[in-house]
Amino acid sequence: MTTTTPANRNGRTPDRDDWYLDDEFWRHFGSLMFNEETYAEAGEEMDALIGQLGFSTGHILDLGCGPGRHALPLASQGYPVTAIDTSPSLLAELESRRDELPIEIVRADMREFRRPAAFNLILIMWTSFGYFEAESDHDRVLECSVDNLSDDGRLVLDLVGVEYLARNLEPVHLTEYDDGRLLIERPVLVDDLQRLDNDWILIDGDRVFRTHISHRVWSAGEIRSLLLRHGLDVESIQGGFHGEPYDLDAERLIIIARKARAGSDFQQGPNA
Ligand SMILES: C[S@@+](CC[C@H](N)C(=O)[O-])C[C@H]1O[C@@H](n2cnc3c(N)ncnc32)[C@H](O)[C@@H]1O
Repeated sequence: MTTTTPANRNGRTPDRDDWYLDDEFWRHFGSLMFNEETYAEAGEEMDALIGQLGFSTGHILDLGCGPGRHALPLASQGYPVTAIDTSPSLLAELESRRDELPIEIVRADMREFRRPAAFNLILIMWTSFGYFEAESDHDRVLECSVDNLSDDGRLVLDLVGVEYLARNLEPVHLTEYDDGRLLIERPVLVDDLQRLDNDWILIDGDRVFRTHISHRVWSAGEIRSLLLRHGLDVESIQGGFHGEPYDLDAERLIIIARKARAGSDFQQGPNA
């Protein structure tokens, strides 16, 4: 459990610890993240992942699905998908895009969503794992996920590793979008390099939106240990969905884990 309080993080005080539940945030900043380019990337990622896993049939759970960048292409290939998110605006966007596709859309919190043994594959994509201030909340997501996986079902986490962040973080980063909007990011690693705090300042014409977000980050070794403690056997740690190695240059930390078989060493529970 982290011991640093918001006030001693470089003097920056988050507006709220649960910023990720604030739909205002997703309405202001979501359109920067979810655009045609990132939708296309997600479709390619899913093609590569499904190929790598040799996944042919089964029910998929997309936790923190957002507007459905991954749920939509998976459902269009015929897989039944349950898409979970807490943001009404992002779920409405998914609803408007899905036509007749086999997607069950549920507004729910990933810390609480339980449907035992219902899913063959669970995805938590684009750093949607790591938002919580309390370590126990990340544990809850993993406990629910293990419970929700079928025997031998697999969990895929798509993160950014602290190894990459520590080497590549710029104190100030400016992005100018085609429509003229400007995003200023001021990221910093805090709490013994276990959290990434970030100021986001969006300038849209005469309007300025500012927010402070905070995110748990892990190294590859730490996340492996965390999954192991939850009864998940890590099959692969990789730097992308196209077989990239996980090394110091890897921009992504992708973990593919399998629910450990009953009776194996991994069935010891999270406190073992
Ligand atoms: C960076 S977005 C990623 C969305 C999607 N996975 C993608 O790759 O496009 C993170 C998503 O997690 C959702 N989220 C945040 N906290 C959540 C929670 N406790 N339970 C479910 N979803 C949550 C947000 O609403 C948002 O849609």
